Amino acid sequence: MEQWVAIKENIKQWVREVGKEQLVKMEQPFQMKSKSSDIDLVTEVDEWSEQFLMEKIKAEYPDHAIMTEESGWHEGQAEYEWVIDPIDGTVNFAHRFPFFCISIGVKHKGETVIGVVYAPRLDEMYEAIKGSGATLNGRTITVSATEQLNKAVVATGFPYDKGTDPNNNVENFNAIITKIGGIRRTGSAAIDLCQVAAGRFDAYWEIKLKEWDICAGLLIVEEAKGNTFSAEIEKGYQVLVGTPAIYDELSTILSWEK
Ligand code: IPD
Ligand code: CA
Ligand code: CA
Repeated sequence: MEQWVAIKENIKQWVREVGKEQLVKMEQPFQMKSKSSDIDLVTEVDEWSEQFLMEKIKAEYPDHAIMTEESGWHEGQAEYEWVIDPIDGTVNFAHRFPFFCISIGVKHKGETVIGVVYAPRLDEMYEAIKGSGATLNGRTITVSATEQLNKAVVATGFPYDKGTDPNNNVENFNAIITKIGGIRRTGSAAIDLCQVAAGRFDAYWEIKLKEWDICAGLLIVEEAKGNTFSAEIEKGYQVLVGTPAIYDELSTILSWEK
């Protein structure tokens, strides 16, 4: 546990450094290319951020394994595994829209024990350690007290292949939109998860997510006393999180296998 706290302090320092640089780089021209589809982007700032973090981790914890969005799996001998999204919300970053973040989860013996999500433009630091609660900028957060689905504000997102694969979340969206109070789409899964943890959104669901999108955020929601479900199926993870009173109803509407 002491070791987890020490690791988390290092992460916070590193993401602040990366975030500061992202804000500077965002104001300058940067290179960009597309990945799985024309709208799935990677910028040179994603790559720079990832390299910066990898160098810090390798210097401090040379035997830890690391999984990153842009460079994949890096083998390690220890029982620790880092899961990193250097910019979650790359499309937002590329459009200079402030909802983007750095998301870092650390697993110990296969279980996520540390989660840090830092949104530099909002200057919001979300953090959690397994069993110790969740905080936003140092203050404890918990999920909302909303009890009725028709008053709930719910977030979701749509996959990059939405135009070519009919499994694109539109059916789920149509089933849910008429039953809830409001819908939000921030463009960053990690920020969505943290908004549920902070009680600002009442629930969030999405499909085809990758482990680096959700590793840190799911722990932060759990530690904020939210309900969470995630299952890896074809093309990624299905995720539903929410405040307990409305979670079951949404789960029934989505009718995902449990
Ligand atoms: C994306 C964001 C987005 C979600 C996509 C993710 P990226 O991550 O989290 O909100 O809808 O599924 O891939 O590409 O910005 O790191
Ligand atoms: Ca992502
Ligand atoms: Ca990313």
